[in-house]
Formats: sequence, structure tokens, C-alpha cells
Amino acid sequence: MKVAVVGGGSTYTPELVDGFARSGPFDELVLIDPAADRLAVIGPFARRILARHGHPGRLNWTDDLDAGLTDADMVVIQLRVGGQAARISDETFPLDCGCVGQETTGAGGLAKAMRTVPVVLDIARRARELAAPGAWVVAFTNPVGIVTRALLDDGHRAVGLCNVAIGLQRHVAGLLDVRAGEVVLDHVGLNHLSWERAVTVGGTDRLPDLLAEHVGALAEQVRLPSRILELTGTIPSYYLRYFYCHDEVVTEQRATPSRGQRVADIERELLAMYADPLLDTKPALLGERGGAYYSEAAVGLIASLAGDDQAVHAVNVRNDGTLPNLADDAVVEVSCRVGALGATPLPTAPLGPDLAGLVGHVSGYEELAVQAAVHGGRDRVFRALLAHPLVGQFDLAEQLTDRLLAENAAHLAWA
Ligand code: G6P
Ligand code: MN
Repeated sequence: MKVAVVGGGSTYTPELVDGFARSGPFDELVLIDPAADRLAVIGPFARRILARHGHPGRLNWTDDLDAGLTDADMVVIQLRVGGQAARISDETFPLDCGCVGQETTGAGGLAKAMRTVPVVLDIARRARELAAPGAWVVAFTNPVGIVTRALLDDGHRAVGLCNVAIGLQRHVAGLLDVRAGEVVLDHVGLNHLSWERAVTVGGTDRLPDLLAEHVGALAEQVRLPSRILELTGTIPSYYLRYFYCHDEVVTEQRATPSRGQRVADIERELLAMYADPLLDTKPALLGERGGAYYSEAAVGLIASLAGDDQAVHAVNVRNDGTLPNLADDAVVEVSCRVGALGATPLPTAPLGPDLAGLVGHVSGYEELAVQAAVHGGRDRVFRALLAHPLVGQFDLAEQLTDRLLAENAAHLAWA
């Protein structure tokens, strides 16, 4: 099996390669990136990681997209259009309007979607021409829900993946002192707008026990007040903090450097470390990035798609009736059984009133965000922002639209 990683020059790539080196089913791994200078550092380091684990697979790198995609069976897309500079913009311009500055939530998330969706669609269309028949696109590019929806609307064989669910699965397994593989989550919602409604081990839902015994640790893990977990009977993802604690986050963000600035520093240091010809294992500093268990999630999903093992993964798929308050063509992030034919949601109950309104609201925004990103135009950007629950007001949506367009003009072909 040939796996192509688009955005292979990312400083996250050693994390992914480490996962493939330990248990990844592949014969050939190709790192594709327009930044040849980064590939020249990441490529040789990735080879050293494979060699250390004695993995027999080949690893190559190229800045030629078409060559890299040719005959690939899996196409992992993990890119960031505009790099950390664009991310820092996403994280700061909404603050001037009193809104959260975040790369996937609110106006910053829409800015990222606007820059990213056209690039990902171009790559997926090249993959459709050049990759092996039936190849899968594994979308790890944020905002994952919107990107996956755009890919599916364009007819690609795509699954969207995020590490939030696997991170919580590992955390609760630790609290319950069981193996992570024994824990099945009832993970529901949208990408970066999700809740765990059940934590099943051996057929028993252990979430009520967990909330009774460990609510403090769980609340700390997701950076939310315990009462929210107790009253909803769920574990929300830490991205819910941008909704439930919006104003508190804005105050904090105004007083601290943006995450993108910190990540830019970490990336500089990581690249210097990766260049060391003696380094053959991922450095501890990589653990300071948000991508914990990214490699396990990606390798596990790819193994299920390629090997038809029917394991459970929380992934982004078409709703098709899974959450009855959403349109069938919405994209949801839910626990699914995954095999060679794709991901099939596990049966799950309808969303209760605490979750249904917010999820429906953001899902409507996501539909408009795809339209804005694919077709462009100020009105479409404005409509998406007006529909977002963290914006919602005419004047605010007008201001944020102007700021978003001004900040991203260099990345938007139509603007
Ligand atoms: C988590 C999220 C990803 C996001 C990352 C940010 O892993 O699931 O979608 O990209 O955090 O981490 P960073 O180190 O870039 O802040
Ligand atoms: Mn994510």
C-alpha cells in the first residue's frame, strides 16, 4: 500500500511517521510538500525513525504533487495554507470585535476554511486523476468538518479525522484503569463541537461512575466548569470552552500571546532538532503541540480502511439520519465502525435539548461556510458569519467580514 502525505513537510510529520513505524501497514510512504527546504530536513529524519523501528517500508519525499499522488492508495491531507502567520491572524483579528480568536472556531475558523477548502479540493481532484482506483482521502486539515463536507460534496471518497476523541478515550481509559481499546465512546456532535455521552467498557456505560468519581479531573482536562459536565451528564470537548466560556477566553486571549506565536517558536526549535543526523526518535518538545495521539488515530483509521477490520473510530462522515435534527448532507463527527467501504455511524440516540440547538446552529453555519469557501463573494462570507452562534448580529458580522477579507486577500483568488 502506498500512503501519500500532502503537507508532509509539517513539523507534525515525525509524529505520524512514528505511528507508521510502530504499526503502520504500508509499503511506501511519500511526503509531499511545496516547501522543499522543509522536506530536506523532515524526509531524512522520517527515514531515521523508520530505520530505528526496523520497518521495511520505503519512505520518499517530493515537492511534485502529481508524482507523489500517483498510484497512492491513501491520501492524507494535513496542510496549513498561509502557515502560522495566517493562523496568528485568525487568532487575533476577531478579538478587535470582542470575539474569540481561534483557528477553527468563529470568524478565525471561517477565515481558515476560506483559504483552505479550494486548495484541498484542487489536491483531491488531482488525486482522483492520479491515485489508485478507490483511494481514500483522509482529511486531517482544519477546519476538518467543513473541509470534509466540501470533499464529500465534490464526490471524493473522504473521511475526516481529529484527535479530540482519541485523546479523551485515552484519558478515561487511564482513569478507569482499562486498556484504551476496551473503551467505546458515544462521541457525538460536529468536529470541534463534540461531547462524550457514554463511555462503554464491556457493555456497561461507565460515564456515570466517572462523573461521580472524577468530575474534577475530567473538567480540568477539558478546561470547563465541573457543573457543566454534571448537569449535561457528558464530557464536552475542550473546544466547547470557546462557547460556554466565550467572554472569559476573550479576556484571556487579549492578555496573552496567541497560540500561533508559541507554535511558530516551537516549530523553529523542532526543525533545528530534526536536522540533527543522530536524532532518530521524536523529541519531547513535539508533545507540546496539540496533536497527541494524532499518529495512533491516523494509523488506526488507515488500517481499518485498508484492512477492513471494522474497528470503531470517531470520524467525520455524512449525517444521513444519524442525528435526526440535522440535514442528511450535514457532516457529523460520531463514533463509527470502519471498514473497506468506509465509516458507518454506530447507532446513537437523538441529541437532547442541551446539545441539539448549538449543534444545529453550527451545522447551519458550516453549510454556509462551505458555500462561501467554494464560491467566494462577500455576501456568502457575511451570511456564514451571521449564522454563527458566536457572531449572530448584523453589525458584528459586517465588521468581521471586512476584517476577514482584508486579512486574507492574498489567499483568496476571488477577493
Ligand atoms: C488538536 C486539534 C487539532 C489542532 C491542534 C492544534 O490536536 O484536534 O485540530 O490542529 O490541536 O495544536 P497546536 O499545537 O497547533 O496548537
Ligand atoms: Mn482537531
